[in-house]
Amino acid sequence: MKILAIESSCDETAAAVVEDGAKVLSSVIASQIEEHRLYGGVVPEIASRRHCESITAVVSQALSDASLSLNDIDAIGVTAAPGLIGALLVGVNFAKGLALAANKPLIPVHHIRSHIAANYLSNPHLKPPFLCLVASGGHSHIIEVLTYTDFKVIGRTRDDAAGEAFDKVARAIGLGYPGGPKIDKVSKEGNPDAIVFPKAKLEDPYDFSFSGVKSAVLNHINRCKMQGEEICEADIAASFQKAVVDTLVEKAVKAAKEHHMDKLAIAGGVASNSALRQAMKEACEREHIQFYYPSPIFCTDNAAMIGVAAYYEYKKGVRHGWDLNAVPNLKLGER
Ligand code: KG4
Ligand code: ZN
Repeated sequence: MKILAIESSCDETAAAVVEDGAKVLSSVIASQIEEHRLYGGVVPEIASRRHCESITAVVSQALSDASLSLNDIDAIGVTAAPGLIGALLVGVNFAKGLALAANKPLIPVHHIRSHIAANYLSNPHLKPPFLCLVASGGHSHIIEVLTYTDFKVIGRTRDDAAGEAFDKVARAIGLGYPGGPKIDKVSKEGNPDAIVFPKAKLEDPYDFSFSGVKSAVLNHINRCKMQGEEICEADIAASFQKAVVDTLVEKAVKAAKEHHMDKLAIAGGVASNSALRQAMKEACEREHIQFYYPSPIFCTDNAAMIGVAAYYEYKKGVRHGWDLNAVPNLKLGER
C-alpha cells in the first residue's frame, strides 16, 4: 500500500510517498533553516507561515517525484503531535483536506515514534523488540520499542534535549544555527580531552540532564574571556561533544543490557552525529549488542519516516475522523 505522508512539526515542510512502510518512492524536504538562522533558532510564527506557503508545492512534488496522482494513494499520514502547534496545524489541516477530498483514510502519527521508525528504512531486517535512543532538538528519550506501535519510555531528559544543548553551545562559541552539524564538523579539528566538562549524576540511571554541561561551557568561555586567554572553539566543541556522546552511549547501553535487549537503535537529528555513531558502534561491539542507525537524511526531520510509522498504525487499524487536531506535547505512549 502507498501512503502519502506529511510532516510540519518544526522547521521542515516535508512530504513523501512510502510503499508498505519500507520503500521510499519520493521524499521532499523544504528546509527553512536559512531564515531561522538569522534569529539563532526556530521562530514558531515564521515556521507556521512558511509551512503555509510551501506545503502545496511540497506535496505536489512528492506525488510527481513518485509518478503518482492522489488517486493512486491508499492513505494519508500526518504528524499530529508533538511539535510547534502553529506548525503542526498546517500539516494536519492540509492532510485532512486532502483525505476528505480524495476519500482516503487519515492516519495521525506521533513525531517521536516516526523518528524510531526511520530505522526500518535503513535496516529492513530490524524488528521489535529493541531499545532506541531518540535524541533530537526537542527530545532525549530511551525507549523500549515493544512492537511497531507499542512503546515504553524508560528514560528522558529533565531539562534541555541533547540537540538543544548542541544548538545553544554552538551559538555561544559563534558557530551559528543549527549547531549540531557545525559542532560535529569543527570537533574533528579539536581535542576531545582538552577540557573536562561535567556529566550530570541523576538518581534515575536512564534520565538525562544537559543544562549543566551547557552552563559549564558558557562558564568556561566567560572565564577565558575575563582572564584574556585564547578561546579554542574546536577544543571546546570536541570536549562538549564528548561529554554529551559519552552520556548518551553510557546510558543507552546500560539500559539495553539491563532490559536484556540485544538490539540498540538510535534516532533523531543528533543520531546523525558522527562521534555518537562511532562511539555507539564501538560500545555495542564490546557488549555484543547489534547496533542500528538510520541514514543521516532520515535522522533529521523528513516525511518518509512519517510514512513508515503511518503504515504500522494503519495495519493496527488506526484511522482518524475529520475532527483530528494537533497536540503540541502528546506523550509517546498516548494517542
Ligand atoms: O530530529 P530533528 O531534525 O528535529 C527535532 O525533532 O527536534 O533534530 C534537530 C536537532 C537540532 O538540534 C540539530 O542541531 C541536531 O538535531 N543535529 C545534530 C546533528 N545534526 C542535527 N546534533 C549533533 N550532530 C549532528 N551531526
Ligand atoms: Zn524531529
